[in-house]
Amino acid sequence: MDRATTGGRGLRKWVPVEFVLGLGLVLVATILANAIPAKHAVIEDWPYPFRFSIDATWGGVGMMIGTGIGGLLLLLAVGAIPLGRFKRWKTKWRIAIPAILAACALVAALPPLATQAFPETYRKTPVPFDAISIANGVTLFAANCVLCHGPQAKGNGVLAKTFPIPPVDLLTEPHTAKHTAGDFFHWLTHGIPGTGMPAFSDKLSEEDRWDIVNFLHATSRGYQARLINPYVAPGQPYMAPQNFSYSAHDGTSGTLKDFRRAKAVLLVLFSWPESQSRLDQLRSAYATLRDNNTIVLASPLKDPAPQELATITTAMPFPLVVQGAQEIAHSYALFRRTLSNPDLAGEGTSPKHMEFLIDRYGYLRARWIPSVDGPGWTDIAELTRQIELLNREKEIRPPPDDHVH
Ligand code: HEC
Repeated sequence: MDRATTGGRGLRKWVPVEFVLGLGLVLVATILANAIPAKHAVIEDWPYPFRFSIDATWGGVGMMIGTGIGGLLLLLAVGAIPLGRFKRWKTKWRIAIPAILAACALVAALPPLATQAFPETYRKTPVPFDAISIANGVTLFAANCVLCHGPQAKGNGVLAKTFPIPPVDLLTEPHTAKHTAGDFFHWLTHGIPGTGMPAFSDKLSEEDRWDIVNFLHATSRGYQARLINPYVAPGQPYMAPQNFSYSAHDGTSGTLKDFRRAKAVLLVLFSWPESQSRLDQLRSAYATLRDNNTIVLASPLKDPAPQELATITTAMPFPLVVQGAQEIAHSYALFRRTLSNPDLAGEGTSPKHMEFLIDRYGYLRARWIPSVDGPGWTDIAELTRQIELLNREKEIRPPPDDHVH
């Protein structure tokens, strides 16, 4: 037999092996593709008890070591291919060594990237992330959860210490980033067996449970928002505040979203009579703000009595919310935290006056709380400078999503 035919036979012998290897790769790729659904894919019931997620496992020691080793093994696998050719390894080793290394890479990297999943994990919420939903969530949380989870969802309710594992800190820990909205829906619906976390499917409607999911997201965002201050950080829109609907004293009505791609919004949450001088100041500064493409929306933290309302709205040049104010107050109170006053103790406080500057793409960009930040925006020129910064920006990212994920 000459060398050519031996070589031919030798190669032919390996064809089934290569075929099986190829099939294996296709299988792995299929599992991977299925276990990480596209962001907007509609999935009713997720079939696996796990999913792969870099976000959810990021930062864990196991994940870092596993993916590190996995990456290294994968590099070695790729490197072994030219090395085998160069060193004239036998054909079986040329195939087997990279294949074994690649398989080890998957074995090392995949399990640490897996996180628990439920049939509801990729369920889409039908309830938009808005003030009505979140305000309802605030009420439901106060009525059903505080005994265990604490008044501010910090996991420090009076019963917290009675459980083998105390409830997690849902305020300052990034749980809403690590779990999908559907995961929260699952826990609220079925509880967590063996932990003391009860099921609420009998007690709360599906919509109520989604309202709580929205509330948990708003709570977590409110904690992130403590980094926001009276000064705009140019080019950094990241905080998506909830939409809201309102009717105003002047007969106008609409939603926060109506101003998108048109105007910046200065949302003024006020108390009466404490905020009187500030409202007077805004009244006289209104023309300047309006000329700077900004609308002022004033919304009372507590509904004023009718005769008070008459006084407040006298010669008021901008809309004052008369319907929807309570939902705005309750849901935007979650955005009261600042770096110097994260307000984590007990039930927390509620400032008497807060102003939010929302850019014309729908992102919360600056906030002034007089009781914490001092004089700040009482200097109208300073406020105008912040607005000018926003007006100079182009669209940096698309307007925020109306639903949590
Ligand atoms: C009787 C006490 C109790 C009540 C009432 C309760 N929980 Fe829990 N909850 C727990 C315990 C205990 C855990 C388990 C902590 C663990 O195992 O991580 C938990 C876990 C959770 C988790 C999982 C968090 C995570 O990231 O792992 C969520 C979300 C949650 N609770 C939300 C709620 C909400 C919302 C309510 C009110 C509708 C509520 N719980 C009512 C005790 C309670």
